Amino acid sequence: MRAALSSVPGKQQQGSEFLRDVLEGLGGKTKTLPCKYLYDEVGSRLFEEICAAEDYYLTRTETDLFTKNLGDIAREIGSGALLIEPGAGNCEKIEMLIAELNAPRGYYPMDISPEILQAAEARIKCHLPGIQVWSEVGDFTQPAVWDKLSTIPSRKRVVFFPGSTIGNFEPQKSVQLLELFAANLGAGDGLLICTDLVKDSVVLERAYHDSAHVTERFNKNLLCRINRELDANFDLSLFAHRAFYHPLRQRVEMHLVSLRRHDVSIAGIRVEFAEGETIHTESCHKYTINGFNALLSKGGFKPIRHWKDASESYAIHYAQAI
Ligand SMILES: C[S@@+](CC[C@H](N)C(=O)[O-])C[C@H]1O[C@@H](n2cnc3c(N)ncnc32)[C@H](O)[C@@H]1O
Repeated sequence: MRAALSSVPGKQQQGSEFLRDVLEGLGGKTKTLPCKYLYDEVGSRLFEEICAAEDYYLTRTETDLFTKNLGDIAREIGSGALLIEPGAGNCEKIEMLIAELNAPRGYYPMDISPEILQAAEARIKCHLPGIQVWSEVGDFTQPAVWDKLSTIPSRKRVVFFPGSTIGNFEPQKSVQLLELFAANLGAGDGLLICTDLVKDSVVLERAYHDSAHVTERFNKNLLCRINRELDANFDLSLFAHRAFYHPLRQRVEMHLVSLRRHDVSIAGIRVEFAEGETIHTESCHKYTINGFNALLSKGGFKPIRHWKDASESYAIHYAQAI
């Protein structure tokens, strides 16, 4: 087994990209921050806590669905597959899948958070001895992070994209992301991808505004991270966490709301906040099966089959690159 982290951009390069994105996001008429920055080491740990929270039904439902349908899913994937996981996080979900597969070729996880990937590698080494692992740190929306795949011969490649992470992308960006996946696959290769389905707004809003306030800490950690890494002075007590379902856009939006007019300094640059002004930090799009099948087709995939839980809350889809 080989498991070496690579492609770690220099701290300075990461820092200057982060500063550029933060100033750009907070400099517009509507303030936004890219959700990928929610996942520093602290944010990744908080995300693990969210996954275990009672109100966050997504992870629980997905795990049940996988457990019940693992044999079926493994048959669709077939033997000798190289599993590729963009945004692998703690890589926990791949373990049960790999254990069920016939002669898997190996595993290629990618994540923007080096710390979480390092910890995951140590665990995979222990739990899945004999599986070759090629880890890549970086932004999976950038083609460079996929480059090393071309050096790994395999009978079949399958992109594994659980956690409803596709929901964090606007529909048009989702199509571009699916196109990037397809560009790194051959005809007949697979995509195993999970979506959270459209449902009652009360259930959705509770999941993103949980009673244990973990999502609130996750959201506000982004401001702490900017303070820590970009010499900023956000006062967390002047921001509130807000999460709501937008039925027309079929998405939950997460925001940080400024509770009064004030200024913040970021790397010496002043950013003004009006009372009630928000920073949009994340969107989580919800799908219908037909809506998602249409998206798959636009992105270069043929939907093959899907598995849903009994309450039609969540779905796992298997599709083939065209
Ligand atoms: C919603 S979590 C899902 C984690 C895991 N796949 C799961 O299903 O539990 C998103 C993960 O993707 C990573 N991530 C988010 N945006 C990313 C990006 N643009 N490039 C690389 N990793 C990203 C985060 O660090 C985090 O680990």
